[in-house]
Amino acid sequence: MTDRIDVRRADWDSEEPLLRSLRNRVFVREQKVPQDLEWDGQDEDAVHLLAFDLRGDAVGTARLLPSGQIGRMAVLPEHRGFGIGRALLDAAVQAARERGDYEVFLNAQTHALGFYERAGFASVGEPFEEAGIPHQRMELALGIAFEPPPVDGLEVVKARMEREPYDLPALQDCPRDVVMLEGETDIRTAITGLCAHARREILILSPELDPRLFDDTDLLETLSRFARRHDQAHVVILIHDSRRMVRDGHRLLTLSRRLSSSFSIRLVHPDMRDREDTLVLADRTGLIDLPRTGIPQGFVNLNDPPLASQYAKWFDRLQDHAQLDPDLRTMSI
Ligand code: COA
Repeated sequence: MTDRIDVRRADWDSEEPLLRSLRNRVFVREQKVPQDLEWDGQDEDAVHLLAFDLRGDAVGTARLLPSGQIGRMAVLPEHRGFGIGRALLDAAVQAARERGDYEVFLNAQTHALGFYERAGFASVGEPFEEAGIPHQRMELALGIAFEPPPVDGLEVVKARMEREPYDLPALQDCPRDVVMLEGETDIRTAITGLCAHARREILILSPELDPRLFDDTDLLETLSRFARRHDQAHVVILIHDSRRMVRDGHRLLTLSRRLSSSFSIRLVHPDMRDREDTLVLADRTGLIDLPRTGIPQGFVNLNDPPLASQYAKWFDRLQDHAQLDPDLRTMSI
């Protein structure tokens, strides 16, 4: 039966009457949920889903809030038990996954616990009452194995470059947004140039903080100036392993220790080390991505907020699960 269910995203602005009529039938009339609780003012910001039967009639709905909460799951009584609820739930989870959430949750009516458990949700905490109906919070982790940014930066840039070939210009008079980077000198210049543009935040991901790229006098001076500019300026560095830099005396470690209120260095969670990109993000606006460790090749884009925010989401997720590095503890970074 599931292969005949058509679930698609709905637009609150244009489909509000349809969404309202389904929820009025199921929640307000059938379940006697008070109107003011049902229409809680959160619909305008939600992702809405609609399920249709073979005749094209809407028979079910669900929504996903910006917080990751799934709710308002409703299938018309005569259409229950045919997999429509599950298809709506799967679509809501998928929508959360696509926008980069790493967890979804919901407050299940306790009679429907089995429905959500079948889809992998687990109960958390004690049951509670809402609109006179017993509820239970349930959560589903979408996996700390993160989705990498949806584009492989290098491939996209290569494709663009093939369409519009041009010589690699010096960074400062770059005529276009994207510049391919080849070789350590280009990359060092680009990293320093990008960091010099930053005003609030510099995010660096580099498995071993490659000294050829990051133990560089110009860069260190730039980072030092950045960190001293104001209290809010901060540099977050995520690495896989610090042993080599501790052993060899990396100067960025020394700077981080000196300016420890502006710098933090953390270890990427071992389960999240499957990509080896070196990444630098400035104010979530400009970025450098070198997709492969040890291969001095990649791109810089000084101003691409949509792409930079994709990468920043990835970085945030790595940061959320990052760990203190015992080898750096004595350095209090
Ligand atoms: N308790 C336990 N299991 C349930 C269930 C329930 N109340 N409702 C469905 N399931 C099971 C089904 O048996 C099916 O299992 P299977 O995959 O092993 O066959 C699976 O969950 C998927 O069921 P499906 O047919 O996709 O569900 P549905 O289309 O009937 O929709 C609801 C389920 C809960 C959305 C629907 O019953 C509904 O709209 N109820 C009224 C509103 C409501 O209570 N919403 C939930 C608020 S938390």
